[in-house]
Amino acid sequence: MELEECLKARRDTRHFLPDPVPQQVLNKALAAAHMAPSVGLSEPWRFVSVESAENRTFIKKLFNEARQKAQKQVADEQDEARSDLHQSLKLEAILDAPVGLAVFCELPSENYTIGVIGTPQTLMWSVACAIQNLWLSLTDQGYGAGWVSILDFEQLKKELDVPEAWLPLGYLCIGKPATDYDKKPMLQNQGWKQRTPEPIVLKR
Ligand SMILES: Cc1cc2nc3c(=O)[nH]c(=O)nc-3n(C[C@H](O)[C@H](O)[C@H](O)COP(=O)(O)O)c2cc1C
Repeated sequence: MELEECLKARRDTRHFLPDPVPQQVLNKALAAAHMAPSVGLSEPWRFVSVESAENRTFIKKLFNEARQKAQKQVADEQDEARSDLHQSLKLEAILDAPVGLAVFCELPSENYTIGVIGTPQTLMWSVACAIQNLWLSLTDQGYGAGWVSILDFEQLKKELDVPEAWLPLGYLCIGKPATDYDKKPMLQNQGWKQRTPEPIVLKR
């Protein structure tokens, strides 16, 4: 795919076909992630391939709990139609996506990383760059991903038994998309929110 075409085609996917994802597709996507820029060449991205049904069921439970809290927050806004719409949105595919990949940022143990001084979030931003690379590579290969952040990340970390220095960024549901949501973000397609036509750019 041309870059522009790939950027336009990438979607956050929550509806997948049951087809398995070949290992070489995943390897290529992970290699793309590893090409991302990172602060001070820290390469802080870490991945956990979540394969056990037990872990996935637990993560789905974490999602359901967080989702319930979110639903309550929307209900408190006293707009019944909006609350109903929120309730109807599918915001994960934890049990139906063939691949689950939890993504973490490892905080460096050494004292100094170029670029991090005063802004440790730069390490997390580096991992977000890696996730975008992975996402685009999957799109390019005819696959898709959905980023799930509606989770208690501390519990996710405990469940997956990762080192203390790993901070969770999300759980990716990966597979063959069952839909392209009419080539729009699903939230736009479902009438939740519209994409703004242009980026906001100030001049000073
Ligand atoms: C950091 C981050 C966290 C997200 N968390 C969720 C999530 O928990 N559930 C969900 O359905 N979508 C989640 N999304 C997807 C966004 O809703 C989606 O990217 C946005 O609506 C635009 O749609 P598009 O990615 O198809 O262009 C997340 C995206 C990002 C970047």
